Amino acid sequence: MAKKVFGIDFGTNVIKVYKKGDGIILSERTAVSAVGKEKRAIAIGEKSYEMYEKAPPSIYISLPISRGVISHLDDMVSLWNYMGRLISGKRKMNNCQFYIAVPADITEVEKQAYSKIITKSETKPGKVCLIDKPLADAYGLGLDVEASRGIMTVNLGADTTEISVLSLGGIVVSKLLPYGGNDFDRIIQTFLRKKNNFVIGLKTAEQIKKQLVSVEPGEAEITVAGRDVLRGLPGEMRVTSKEIHPLIRDIFHTLAVEVRSMLEHTPPEISSEIRERGVYLTGGTSRIAGLDRFFANWVNVRVNTTDNAVKTVASGVGYLAEHPKLAARYAVPLEKG
Ligand SMILES: Nc1ncnc2c1ncn2[C@@H]1O[C@H](COP(=O)(O)OP(=O)(O)OP(=O)(O)O)[C@@H](O)[C@H]1O
Ligand SMILES: [Mg+2]
Repeated sequence: MAKKVFGIDFGTNVIKVYKKGDGIILSERTAVSAVGKEKRAIAIGEKSYEMYEKAPPSIYISLPISRGVISHLDDMVSLWNYMGRLISGKRKMNNCQFYIAVPADITEVEKQAYSKIITKSETKPGKVCLIDKPLADAYGLGLDVEASRGIMTVNLGADTTEISVLSLGGIVVSKLLPYGGNDFDRIIQTFLRKKNNFVIGLKTAEQIKKQLVSVEPGEAEITVAGRDVLRGLPGEMRVTSKEIHPLIRDIFHTLAVEVRSMLEHTPPEISSEIRERGVYLTGGTSRIAGLDRFFANWVNVRVNTTDNAVKTVASGVGYLAEHPKLAARYAVPLEKG
């Protein structure tokens, strides 16, 4: 029987699983809820995240990846065990092959932890292969990675922004910055609490971000539900794009300056092709309105976006999972044992 082959993007916010032959089969929030001393998982994904900030103390909730690094490996293993059962039902996931995208700019030990999610789990893998995320991202964009002299990707995720330059199938440089879309959510949440004594959950803050945050302040407004701290009662609050914009704009500037600086430090034989084809924005946060024009102005370069921004890494690592000889060229060496 053909072995099952998977490509996985363990994102800080969302885990995306690609299965050979089927494409992306699962997209679940990176959260696990557990109970008891032995921390038995009772929910994962969106269902678990729903409980975050609301669950009674008897339920332990973990968001086991932080800023692109696994901060709670045991919780991550228990999340994967639960997910594995969702994918394979009663059958054990033995002897499957796993290709996992990992940030390029983290330590070797931090990279190896991603392989341990699988090797320490119930799954008895036939093979685990780690692939640097910028390479997966470029394949997910459908680019000719081996033949291109210069590709620049900016993956704007939930907790991180990874800016990378690739040339002829290798990573020239990659920088993982500790900023992402979730910072916007936290800033919005803190602002409403401090200014209006109004408490909202992170889910509501994310909803505000998706509807109101753009690079230019707009006229949009929304009403959200929360709790008035002074009265101790549930209530509603009107939030405007104009008041949110000044809180966020410095992060856009910081990111644009980083992109510009990396491009300026790239050797001309590589940067000339990057300028010709334009920089690629990927990751969920690249969907913020106007971000492409903002980067284009600041960096003075053409900018490409994709409707598939959230899934490029998973699609790319999936493509490599389907082409094992190609993937072998990029495999991050695995620790023995
Ligand atoms: N339409 C949208 N507008 C603004 N932000 C969005 C939109 N859609 C998704 N996001 C944000 O994108 C982020 C998730 O993106 P993505 O799935 O690329 O992150 P991740 O891979 O989980 O995180 P990381 O790469 O940092 O580990 C979240 O912060 C989410 O709120
Ligand atoms: Mg990501």
